[in-house]
Formats: sequence, C-alpha cells, structure tokens
Amino acid sequence: MIPANRRGTQPRAGMEYFDARRKPHNIGKVIVALLFIALCIFVLKQSPGFGGNSVFSRHEPGVTHVLVTGGAGYIGSHASLRLLKDNYRVTIVDNLSRGNKGAVKVLQELFPEPGRLQFIYADLGDQKSVNKIFSENAFDAVMHFAAVAYVGESTMEPLRYYHNITSNTLLILEAMASHGVKTLIYSSTCATYGEPEKMPIIETTPQLPINPYGKAKKMAEDIILDFSKRTDMAVMILRYFNVIGSDPEGRLGEAPRPELREHGRISGACFDAALGVISGLKVKGIDYPTADGTCIRDYIDVTDLVDAHVKALNKAEPSRVGIYNVGTGRGRSVKEFVDACKQATGVDIKIEYLSRRPGDYAEVFSDPTKINSELNWTAQHTPI
Ligand SMILES: NC(=O)c1ccc[n+]([C@@H]2O[C@H](COP(=O)([O-])OP(=O)(O)OC[C@H]3O[C@@H](n4cnc5c(N)ncnc54)[C@H](O)[C@@H]3O)[C@@H](O)[C@H]2O)c1
Repeated sequence: MIPANRRGTQPRAGMEYFDARRKPHNIGKVIVALLFIALCIFVLKQSPGFGGNSVFSRHEPGVTHVLVTGGAGYIGSHASLRLLKDNYRVTIVDNLSRGNKGAVKVLQELFPEPGRLQFIYADLGDQKSVNKIFSENAFDAVMHFAAVAYVGESTMEPLRYYHNITSNTLLILEAMASHGVKTLIYSSTCATYGEPEKMPIIETTPQLPINPYGKAKKMAEDIILDFSKRTDMAVMILRYFNVIGSDPEGRLGEAPRPELREHGRISGACFDAALGVISGLKVKGIDYPTADGTCIRDYIDVTDLVDAHVKALNKAEPSRVGIYNVGTGRGRSVKEFVDACKQATGVDIKIEYLSRRPGDYAEVFSDPTKINSELNWTAQHTPI
C-alpha cells in the first residue's frame, strides 16, 4: 500500500510520455544557460580586476611589478607609496589583521591609473590563496613586510609568531620558487641579535635572539639563506632598528588598532599621550644599565627605511645575498625620546614608570657602515 503522502506522486503512463517529449526542450535550456555562463566568464576575464587577463598578470618590459606583503601596515604602506611614486607596479597583499584599509585607500586615490596598484585581501598563511595569487600575477620581486611584530606579544603568544613569521615566509618562498619570482627583499629586525655585549651592532654580530619575535625572524632568515644557496635568487635581508615617523605630507602614518596600543611602540604611545588619546605614557623599565636607566634604541625614520628598500631592490643581483643593518648608528634613550616628543608637541605628557617589559633588552644601536658603502644609503632624518 502506498502511504497517503506519496499517493499523489505516482507517475501515470500519460505523464511519462509527456516528460519524455519535454526532454529536448530542457536540454535546450541547459545549453542556453551554459552559453550564458561562458559569456559571463569571458566578460569577467576582460575586466581589469580579474587576475587571468589583467595587466598585473603579464610581465611588461620596463615595468617592475613588486608584491608588497603587509602593504596595508605601517612600513608596507610607506614602501608602496615610494614604489608607486618611482613608477613601480604594486600589488599589496594583506589580511588587514593589523593593517589599515584606509592606508590602501589613500594609495588607490593617489594612483588611480589602471595597472599601477591592486589590493588583494588574503592571508599569507593560506597556501592555496598564496599559490593562486602567484599564478594569477606576474611579479618581478617581493618585498615581504607582512608579520605580527610586537616583542611583548610574542612572549605571550609564541606559536602565533612562529606561524605568522617563520611558516608564512616559507610559504612565500615556495610560491616564489614555483612561479619563478627571483628577487626577495625581506623585512628582518635587530631583534634577531638579542642583546649583544658589544655595541654598535654589525651584520656579523652573533644572532642570539631572546624573544620569540626575534627567534621567528632569525629562523625565517635561515630558511631564506639556505634556500638561496640552491638557487639564483637575489636576496636582500634588511635588519631594521626602531622605526619611527611618517609620510612628511601626512597622508600615511602608524595607526595600530586600539587593542594593540598597549603592546605598541614608544613612538605611537608618545603621540597618543600628547593628543590625549591615552591618559599618559607608561615607560617600562627604569633600572636598565644605561645612563638614565631607560632603554636605548636606534630610531630610524620610515622615509629613510623605505629608501633603503628601493636601493636594495635596485642593487639586488641574481645569486647574491645582501644583509644590511638599517639604522642611524646612534642610540637614544626612551627618556630622550619622550623629552623630544614633549618639546615637539608642547604637551607636558604625564609619565608613569613601570617595571621592565618581558623580552626587552637594555641597549641596541647599529653600525650602518655596510649599507652606507654598498647601497650608498645613509639615514637623512636623524634628529628625533
Ligand atoms: N615597526 C618597527 O619598528 C619594525 C622594526 C623591525 C622590523 N619590522 C618589521 O617590519 C615589518 C612591517 O612592520 P610594521 O611595523 O609595518 O607592522 P604592521 O603591523 O603595521 O604591518 C604588518 C602588516 O602585515 C599584515 N599581516 C600580518 N599577518 C598577515 C598575514 N598572515 N597575511 C597577510 N597580511 C598579514 C598586517 O595586517 C599589517 O598590515 C614586519 O615584518 C616587522 O617585523 C618592524
């Protein structure tokens, strides 16, 4: 017996005949739908944003196409601005976990012409996305800025740092290797040196990092260096000291998310305090073995730093590895920095002195002789 609710669905002979007659008509509809889909794909492929056929997917004589990872972030956005000004073609890849879509918008408004700048929202930890980006775009070089980059945070979330810095760099290298991209400019850090006994730091100073951030960057460097021995890749590793400042025309700046500000760097914190965004400044550690008890750092202006990147890119040669410190060669204490900020802003910033931050070291400053002589680069913005 047929259940009541299925009785009405039993086919009748007449119905079967009717369905069979309609089949050719349905096939016709399917063919029309397929043709329509094919037409849509064709139209999409012609549109500028579509990877397959866009100018970004073709090498063009006289045009250097640079993939800027982390280009929505502080340093990456300034580097993109400089590259675009110098007529490079730029693709920014960023997952906006830390960066700022506003920075990308500023760049898009400054360089709206087709083929200058594209932004791809993607996570560099996702191998499929990374491979897709490399197969749909013809890059000539990669500037790999993207990273989580707070020393204190790295001591609290070490695995996140190893994953984001070390493992993502490995994925990028693999993608570069399999897509024949042969120039890499890598953002490294003075944190890879740890706390050397002898100052200033030169490039051959032993690298003994003391926090997960520095260790993750050192591991990424090691992977790059080992790989470079087996290929003709041109590699430039830039070890930055403490980056400060912003675009002199005020179009870009350092704008970490509010929740990251407590991990933040002295530069942002000082100006936040001067502007009243935060109630005062917390100086962590006043018992370091330095003249005034606060840490000593080498503050390098972001405009100078991106200039070092462009010089490194221009001097990059196949089968050659260049490793350079990027700093001013002069150490300044946190207290000096705060005094300079008070003087520049005219605000008597309230200061709270706290105990040391885990993972910090007393004194770090560079010897930039090598980059001065080999890349003809010198820091221009030296007074704090
Ligand atoms: N700021 C400094 O003083 C300093 C010093 C030495 C080295 N560095 C290095 O310079 C680079 C840039 O630092 P910054 O100060 O501009 O930091 P930032 O946080 O402003 O920028 C990093 C950018 O990378 C993006 N990003 C992070 N993980 C990503 C992922 N998995 N996929 C895609 N995008 C991702 C973030 O969204 C952000 O836009 C980092 O590699 C950092 O280690 C910075």
